[in-house]
Amino acid sequence: EGGAKVIKEGTLTVCTHLPYKPFQFPQGGETVGFDVDMMDLVAKKLDLEQEIFDTPFEGIQSGESLNTGKCDIAAAGMTITDERKRVIDFSDPYFDATQALLVKSDASYSSLEDLSGKTIGVQEGTTGEQYAKDNAPDDVEVRSFEDLALLCAAVKTGQIDAGINDNGVLYDYVKENPDTAVATEFDTGEQYGFAVKKDGNDGLLEVTNKVIADAKSDGTYDEIYKKWFGD
Ligand code: ARG
Repeated sequence: EGGAKVIKEGTLTVCTHLPYKPFQFPQGGETVGFDVDMMDLVAKKLDLEQEIFDTPFEGIQSGESLNTGKCDIAAAGMTITDERKRVIDFSDPYFDATQALLVKSDASYSSLEDLSGKTIGVQEGTTGEQYAKDNAPDDVEVRSFEDLALLCAAVKTGQIDAGINDNGVLYDYVKENPDTAVATEFDTGEQYGFAVKKDGNDGLLEVTNKVIADAKSDGTYDEIYKKWFGD
């Protein structure tokens, strides 16, 4: 198909950072999720097998993983930003998101101002980390966690007062953890994109964009959405 290039014959190597449920997470010895299903469509289109490479988000968003050839494409619930566009090439947007605030369900925090003097957890290298640094009151301690699971657990156990991450993953978390709640959303107007090496794989990007567009128009996207987010 077209000029799509892959680093390993017969394989679409996909960089992501686990767990990021419901976009990518381990289940029964496999990695599953919304992004995994989308990448399966791309792999199928190219007659390849998807192979997932789990690596810290910091290196995915900085371009390190893609530009040093660790993977062909990144699918990690990753927001398209101008800064990242300088180091990696994004597909068309495939999902809308905003930042949101995770708290214990009995907490009374509903804004960043309410957290004055408290500790907010964020995930390393994410837009949520940047949002907290830019918008939290000066006396808030912003603490970075390596992954989403560690961040959510720290809120649940009361080790920190609140956490900031994307709305989709936090709503998913509170469903299974009713002692936590999403207190508010911050309306950051983000869009997720898949990404390839900078100026390095227009062929793969084209196929990916076509797969996104086709899935949206033929109902496959809605099916995948329902599977992971419900109605
Ligand atoms: N959307 C946010 C960002 O792009 C968070 C993504 C985190 N993804 C992950 N797989 N851990 O910064």
